[in-house]
Amino acid sequence: MKQRILFVDDEPNILKGLQRSLRPLRKIWDMTFVDSGEAALDILEKKEFHVIISDMRMPEMDGGQLLRQVQERWPTMVRIILSGHSDQELIMKSVKSAHQYLSKPCEKQTLINAVNRACSLKALMNKKNLQLVISGIDTMPILPSLYSRVMKELRSPEASTAGIGEIIAQDVGMTAKVLQLVNSSFFGMPRHVASPSEAVVLLGIDVVKTLILSIEVFSEYRERTLSIIPVSKVYEHCVRTGVIAKQIARMEKKSKEAQDNAMIAGILHDLGRLLLAENFPEDYKAVMDHIKRTQCQIHEAEAEVLGVTHAEIGGYLLSLWGLPDDIVEGVVYHHHPAACIAEDFSICGVIHVANLMERHERIQPGGWETLPGLDNRYMAKQGLVDRIPMWRDRVRSTM
Ligand SMILES: [Fe+2]
Ligand SMILES: [Fe+2]
Repeated sequence: MKQRILFVDDEPNILKGLQRSLRPLRKIWDMTFVDSGEAALDILEKKEFHVIISDMRMPEMDGGQLLRQVQERWPTMVRIILSGHSDQELIMKSVKSAHQYLSKPCEKQTLINAVNRACSLKALMNKKNLQLVISGIDTMPILPSLYSRVMKELRSPEASTAGIGEIIAQDVGMTAKVLQLVNSSFFGMPRHVASPSEAVVLLGIDVVKTLILSIEVFSEYRERTLSIIPVSKVYEHCVRTGVIAKQIARMEKKSKEAQDNAMIAGILHDLGRLLLAENFPEDYKAVMDHIKRTQCQIHEAEAEVLGVTHAEIGGYLLSLWGLPDDIVEGVVYHHHPAACIAEDFSICGVIHVANLMERHERIQPGGWETLPGLDNRYMAKQGLVDRIPMWRDRVRSTM
């Protein structure tokens, strides 16, 4: 079936340019072009679309407002912002209702890849088994409160590092936990971090935000799932995986944003385990027994017993919370990076390696040479097999 795509831009020249350059795609895309948010909503009422690609700055209704309405009324549509370079990154990021952000001028291939990736992730999230398990969950967890307050502050035009730090500092318990975490040896901070604002300066707001999110979620689940899974150990594994993921992304010279996103995906990569253990305690006990009996990997046991994995359900939750697609992808495919549509060594590949490295370094510090469970074909395709010893030595020197 052809993907039906709606383009929205108030500048006629840009619309014409898009129309012209995308004409060869008529075989795979059914494209409609409109010049305002109002016109977009009008046509959406009459016809079903799979994807909306909107400009950010438009008079009357801007791209953010438009996508928010689309999210509310047609939640299954893929939403992409195509925005001018002059728009500040922060403004773009504040549009949480977009799945992806692309900047103008945008190469045709970049646009095609973005649409394909978003659609394939969407298809995965609509998988029957996953939907079945989700329908067995009474209420999906909502975004924790402090995290939401930080997000709200970030959306305000006066958002500042100090302001964000202050909001976190008001929560004494959270401040203590964040500082304990960032000052632990494996974060490798250049100096002692004394306040949340300092943590924001050193680690970046996105990473600190994720630490808050993970601390809140993991402590909420702690009591209820402790008898089934070792929550503290899982948490430590996640944070360390995040730190390793960032190191690998840095060694591979990924952008600053990609490094941060690798860390965020690492910190959240096994969140789905809590969700499964909490909602299906009997089944999850069976998963744990299955692992003990067969020595298989966790995701294999989950697929066997529950029909879905923690990676899929975790990714589903993060996409529901509006985290960017590359982070969601990193979580969903961390055991099967080759299944991801992205062709390069993207976040899912980074998390795949970081997850295994953390595990083996913990079980056998300094004593492993190969990584059982590593997708060697994927690594070979990326031409990265030779890099593993270097990543390993780097990780060992900081742990
Ligand atoms: Fe995992
Ligand atoms: Fe893991």
